[in-house]
Amino acid sequence: MTKKNNAFPKDFLWGGAIAANQAEGAWNIDGKGPSIADVCRGGIISGVADQEIDPDKYYASHEAIDFYGHYKEDVAMFAEMNFSLFRTSIAWSRIFPKGDESEPNEAGLVFYDNLFDELLKHNIQPMVTISHYETPLHLANSYGGWENRKLVQFFSRFCEVIFKRYKDKVKYWMTFNEINNMHKIPFATGACRIEEGPTKVQRIYQASHNMFVANAQAVKLGQEIMPENQVGCMLSLSAFYPNTCHPDDVFEAYEFRRRSLFFSDVMLRGHYPAYIERVFEEHDVQLQKEPGDDELIREYTCAFLAFSYYMSSTHKAGTPIQGTTGGARGIDNPYLDKSSYGWGIDPKGLRYVCNEVYDRYEKPLFIVENGYGDLDEISSDGKIHDSYRIDYVSKHLVEISEALQDGCEVLGYAYWGPIDIVSAGTGEMRKRYGFIYVDKDNEGNGTLKRMKKDSFEWYKEVIATNGESLFNK
Ligand code: BG6
Repeated sequence: MTKKNNAFPKDFLWGGAIAANQAEGAWNIDGKGPSIADVCRGGIISGVADQEIDPDKYYASHEAIDFYGHYKEDVAMFAEMNFSLFRTSIAWSRIFPKGDESEPNEAGLVFYDNLFDELLKHNIQPMVTISHYETPLHLANSYGGWENRKLVQFFSRFCEVIFKRYKDKVKYWMTFNEINNMHKIPFATGACRIEEGPTKVQRIYQASHNMFVANAQAVKLGQEIMPENQVGCMLSLSAFYPNTCHPDDVFEAYEFRRRSLFFSDVMLRGHYPAYIERVFEEHDVQLQKEPGDDELIREYTCAFLAFSYYMSSTHKAGTPIQGTTGGARGIDNPYLDKSSYGWGIDPKGLRYVCNEVYDRYEKPLFIVENGYGDLDEISSDGKIHDSYRIDYVSKHLVEISEALQDGCEVLGYAYWGPIDIVSAGTGEMRKRYGFIYVDKDNEGNGTLKRMKKDSFEWYKEVIATNGESLFNK
């Protein structure tokens, strides 16, 4: 690897990220209600969801890796890796089992008190996603998810409860995981069952508007209840390139990118951007706004932009637009290697995205998801030699160091899935991201025993040296 300067600042936050529904299990324990993830087979992103839980079917989220029962052991291993940051979500249906109650479930609150205390005991700062693809199922089934304006009120109540409860334990909060995925996976992102059809675009933007109001309301509550803490937004922002320098490729790729940046434009700049008017006209979108919405959105903008980055996608004009990220692979990029899941590995794309969004917003950035999911084999020596993961992460970290030297303010890096969890895209266990292996298979068999992969010691060293070890190879 070329020698480059290590630019990680001393207070850079290093760690990992998970989501409650992909790790905790205990789906109906201590008063928790079902969430939309709990009726999904094949992963919440796949959107293959039953209306209600079918007792004869296997749902990976129901036990997941039982982080609920193993969190002390897992946090101890994160601490051993020197984490200073750990991002997780608070399962909304653990606190409000149906979502529309007026009183929270105390047992659910106690779990997160215990988890955050455990993290803090090890000097690991918790970071919270308020809604990570796990809206209470009742809000999807009885209200139609975020298409229904009433969710603003339910979400605000949830925020108020958790902000008051954890304000001394959690500094960084994010409202909705990958909110720009409303285009591609509205069920996971917004608990809306929106089929293809002439009203699809209208419905997606209306639900998104309701989420923008809820986001602004959360920022407002955050400022009132915990002024020393910060509420940010979170997008899926894998890089996006035109296929050639043909102006059609370039402009279509640009327009496509704006479909995603539209979300951060609203939540960080505080208003609907001019370009969206044309989109609304072309798709006959007529937003229903309530008086005061625009003012609220203008006044209460997010303090930082957090995002996930896994790959880049390449777009050729005239080809169908498949989505905003995740599986949005566009057409083949001959310059990139791919993971066995077909994700184009593009470390420099991460530097590109950091610069792109820092230029646009000049607000602090958090890389809260980046990682390498693949099939890990246990070797004959009983170990897991995941050099491909080490290679992927080290190259991405070097590019973050470059982005810092470019002037981007990046506050931290949370590796996605530092311990193996259920895949959101496929519902599999065998698509593993972890530095820690969990003995469990796709059918739910296994002891749940945790085991260190080679990447465990490697990441530990990276953090211990504040990135320096990346450059001393
Ligand atoms: C992100 C999601 O889109 O990608 C995570 O926020 C998800 O929940 C991650 O797990 C990786 O995707 P997958 O499909 O490999 O789990």
